[in-house]
Amino acid sequence: MPATNTTDKLHFGSYATLSDGNRIPRLGFGVYEMSDQEASRAVTWALEAGYRHFDCAEWYYNEQSVGSAISRFLASPGCPIGRSDIFYCSKLQSNNGYQAAKRSIAESVKKCGLGYIDLYLIHSPYGGRSNRLDSWRAIQEAKDLGLIKSIGVSNYAERHIQELLDSNPKYPATVNQCDLHPFMARLQLVDYCRANNIALECWGPLVRAERFDHPTIKELASKHSATPAQVLMYVRYRSVSLGALLTTSDTSSLHAVASRSNEATSLYVCVCATIRQLGPYCLHSTFAQQIPKSVSQHRIIENANVFAFELDQADMDRLLSLDEYLVTDWDPIGDPSA
Ligand SMILES: NC(=O)c1ccc[n+]([C@@H]2O[C@H](COP(=O)([O-])OP(=O)(O)OC[C@H]3O[C@@H](n4cnc5c(N)ncnc54)[C@H](OP(=O)(O)O)[C@@H]3O)[C@@H](O)[C@H]2O)c1
Repeated sequence: MPATNTTDKLHFGSYATLSDGNRIPRLGFGVYEMSDQEASRAVTWALEAGYRHFDCAEWYYNEQSVGSAISRFLASPGCPIGRSDIFYCSKLQSNNGYQAAKRSIAESVKKCGLGYIDLYLIHSPYGGRSNRLDSWRAIQEAKDLGLIKSIGVSNYAERHIQELLDSNPKYPATVNQCDLHPFMARLQLVDYCRANNIALECWGPLVRAERFDHPTIKELASKHSATPAQVLMYVRYRSVSLGALLTTSDTSSLHAVASRSNEATSLYVCVCATIRQLGPYCLHSTFAQQIPKSVSQHRIIENANVFAFELDQADMDRLLSLDEYLVTDWDPIGDPSA
């Protein structure tokens, strides 16, 4: 089943459907670098604001406080939602072999206290081929046992995804969570994932607060009475690369794409032209989920209000011209040793 939209017009409650048929809320909440106390407070505020998707990890060392905050909220008097309305993600910190992965999964399920994990990802490709595939074997088994509903990867380059596909896994990856935002577009990887029916999740969608003062972002925010954070999250990566670039008359963008491509420019241009004929760039048909992080209640609410305004094509073209391969945290995708 292809990763698709379930609604035409995106809103806070919109879901996408993953290739395994499970649904994922499009807007999630990241909890990286939150202390237990911060996570407990922020997750509660996020739930009150309407977030249902939480992006956690073994590496964040706050699985217990995030899970407890969710459980407390679900158990509160008159709570209108249940466990099945929550989408909880965790990630395997390191690829250290099959047994180690099994132990990590069991620990993460226990720590969150939610009974099961909705989405479990290999956090990065580090560890080598054999360890990556052993991790995947353990993750598939955990899915069969019902400990995990959907499985995927994070920070995987094309070569790592291809390696997994070539191993004929019982289950393919449904998600690749990568740093994706206007300043890090990863055009080829986005297209590769889409071609392989792998949904993209954007980590660092607010550019980790490093580009709120960029003149284009400030100008677009002012034009649409939005905040820089809201503008940054507007890029929703439907055929973000080729389809979007080809609706612009800016051929320099195209040449930038072509020069980064391993393929012949003429072939690239031909593919672009084909995509262009398929129809105009459409914001409401996208594969990407976003998981902004904040420990502030008003920013948590602000980040959820990203569906009230529309950028026009010219605005989009400007956003899509900002790519500078900006690494804000780590970059296993670009690390040839991974
Ligand atoms: N798979 C991976 O390797 C990976 C790597 C990194 C992150 N992630 C996931 O992705 C999530 C998001 O990424 P991230 O946390 O690195 O960065 P981010 O969401 O791009 O940015 C977070 C930063 O922006 C600030 N902020 C949030 N909303 C704001 C607003 N409306 N106005 C001004 N500042 C605002 C936050 O400060 P305050 O908290 O003070 O508001 C924080 O400093 C993480 O929490 C994690 O779940 C995954």
